[in-house]
Amino acid sequence: MGSYLLGRRIGAGGMSSIYAARQESRVGIGRLVAVKMMNPALRDRTRIKMFLREALISTQLEHPNIVRTYGVLRSRGRLCLAMEFLHGVNLSSLLRETGKPLPVGVALKIAADVAAALHAAHELRDSHGTRLGIVHQDVSPHNVMVTYEGTTKLLDFGIARLSSIDASWTAAPKGKTAYIAPEQVTYGKLDRRVDIFALGVVLHELLTAKRLFGRDSVGQTISAIVNDDIPDVRTVNESVPADVAEIVARALERDPKKRYGDAEAMREALLEARDSNGIERVSGPALGAWLRNAVPPVHSPAELENEIVLTSSGTLKASHPHVSEPLTHLPRASRRARGVLSGMPPAMPPPPASRPPTATTAQRTATTRFSMSLLTATAAFGVVLIVLAFLFLAVRFR
Ligand SMILES: Nc1ncnc2c1ncn2[C@@H]1O[C@H](COP(=O)(O)OP(=O)(O)O)[C@@H](O)[C@H]1O
Ligand SMILES: [Mg+2]
Repeated sequence: MGSYLLGRRIGAGGMSSIYAARQESRVGIGRLVAVKMMNPALRDRTRIKMFLREALISTQLEHPNIVRTYGVLRSRGRLCLAMEFLHGVNLSSLLRETGKPLPVGVALKIAADVAAALHAAHELRDSHGTRLGIVHQDVSPHNVMVTYEGTTKLLDFGIARLSSIDASWTAAPKGKTAYIAPEQVTYGKLDRRVDIFALGVVLHELLTAKRLFGRDSVGQTISAIVNDDIPDVRTVNESVPADVAEIVARALERDPKKRYGDAEAMREALLEARDSNGIERVSGPALGAWLRNAVPPVHSPAELENEIVLTSSGTLKASHPHVSEPLTHLPRASRRARGVLSGMPPAMPPPPASRPPTATTAQRTATTRFSMSLLTATAAFGVVLIVLAFLFLAVRFR
């Protein structure tokens, strides 16, 4: 995969920082990419496993509304993901910058795109046709970007779960508190419908410019998710048609059985409501143009790339991803699912010098050691026998 020139930081989340970078190739053609670097303070075993899990899931996902992940890199012991560079803003910054509800057509377009991305992830299957059971678990405005080309992208599969591998499917709630579903709070059974609930919260926020469950403390937020009345979006924004408000309300049902069964059903409902209410269909270029006007870009990708070449703070060398090693420690991985995941094409060839001993190398080493000790024992035994024979002869012919 060549080497990478690191540029400025373009984003940050709970676990990592995102940098613009230029991927250099041997033939002299470079390209702008984004590199997600795990925070050095979080390098414990669990976090490393989570980071590799994110890499394994996201490199499998190829969908126009999901950020493309190229592979795993390592720089001085820090794990990094190389991704496509997205020139745009996340929904959290977008709402902060605009400070008012998005036009209904724009909000519907973004929500429908996120629903398409989620459906692709939920439906991802292994080569045997078995669904991996991916649940994103962290759908929130921070984890959705809109680009200046007019594409919506779902990011950050950092805490996504695979029902085919994860043993404890009713684990402690994860994800940003204000977007988790009631069944996550009550340690209920989780499935793809938690992502539908989260998308409902995000859409509510896009249409009202108000946080639905965000409160002053985590406790209050959780209490709001479980108990508070969920206001109809139309009480805040009268321009929202009644059936769009109903879609939001259905996604936000506290009982998962009452929500949409899958994200595709929600996407279809959104598009139908758009058409039946005569809401303008927002194309990709129209979304891009709207975004440029709402939040003008600070840098162009070309400026960022030039800046990297001129001021680069360091080079990242591609190294072996080591993905197969931690995978073997995943709890109760079904052989089938594990096979598919470890079958991920390695992002780059392993340099022989830094390659860790594989199971066969280790076995070979152990076998060699064993034969060596057997040889020593036999030789020692032979020497003892000769000495005894000499002693015997000496006594006999004295
Ligand atoms: N590929 C990318 N291109 C440009 N910006 C990105 C990209 N990926 C992430 N970002 C920015 O970085 C922020 C944090 O990224 P994310 O993957 O969510 O990190 P974390 O897992 O630490 O939450 C995002 O909200 C977004 O603003
Ligand atoms: Mg994030």
